[in-house]
Amino acid sequence: MDTRSEHRANSQPTQTWGRAARVFHWLNFVCVLALMVLGLAILNAKAFGVSVEGKVLLKTLHVYVGYVFVINLGWRIIWAFIGHENARWNAMLPFYRGYVEDLKRFLRDLRASRPTTETAHNPLGRLMVTFLLLLMLTQAGTGLVLAGTDLYMPPFGNAIADWVTDGDAELRAKLQPGSTDYVVESSYSEMRAFRKPYISVHEFVFYIMAAAVLLHIVGVVVGEFKERNGLVSAMITGRRSGNDGEN
Ligand code: HEM
Repeated sequence: MDTRSEHRANSQPTQTWGRAARVFHWLNFVCVLALMVLGLAILNAKAFGVSVEGKVLLKTLHVYVGYVFVINLGWRIIWAFIGHENARWNAMLPFYRGYVEDLKRFLRDLRASRPTTETAHNPLGRLMVTFLLLLMLTQAGTGLVLAGTDLYMPPFGNAIADWVTDGDAELRAKLQPGSTDYVVESSYSEMRAFRKPYISVHEFVFYIMAAAVLLHIVGVVVGEFKERNGLVSAMITGRRSGNDGEN
């Protein structure tokens, strides 16, 4: 028996998700939801009859929520190195020897409606978590660049404002977010060309993410009822249902 199976066979889990992982999860949930709603409003601003100023405000709000999202995500990545056993990379990622066998066994158990004894992410959950993490990192990276290209907000806003004004201090002082007044046209066009792939990826990943979040929710709800793993309750209370361990 490998150490992982041994651990599963012997485990009497007292805790599934620690406080840090739960705070991350629900703050992330609120941020992603808010970013999606604001993102949809930005995408459809014209159809909703939103003014230019209104759109700048929507984008600015989106970026402020984005900063919270990025800091929370950054903290979670640090926590994956130093946190509780179930919050670490080796409890989250599918890259270990025997993963494929574990996945097959898990799918067999799921088909037979046999409850499994996973203490944290099941093998399918590991795939989903890795995929969601990649999507979130992509949104964070492209979003931070976009915050600079349209609103001149940190971390790249200063450099981009210098770029579109050719470093002219007078123009720079008058530059307004979302406006093309006081820019040097040729430099501004260059900047727009530079930003194009970022906005395309940001929008495309938004759609993938909406589908992945739905799939994630379906997955955990199925897990809760079919696999009877108690992971939803565990994300709220820290403990799996039917388990009286403490957090
Ligand atoms: C879950 C993460 C995120 C989702 C689902 C999301 C979604 C979206 C969507 C749908 C749009 C509209 C795209 C368009 O107009 O074509 C948008 C625009 C934008 N996002 Fe995000 N976003 C996320 C994270 C972030 C982050 C972390 C930042 C920066 C801190 C950010 C900054 C921006 C900016 C500046 C725009 C406006 C781009 C423009 O049209 O000029 N986003 N986002």
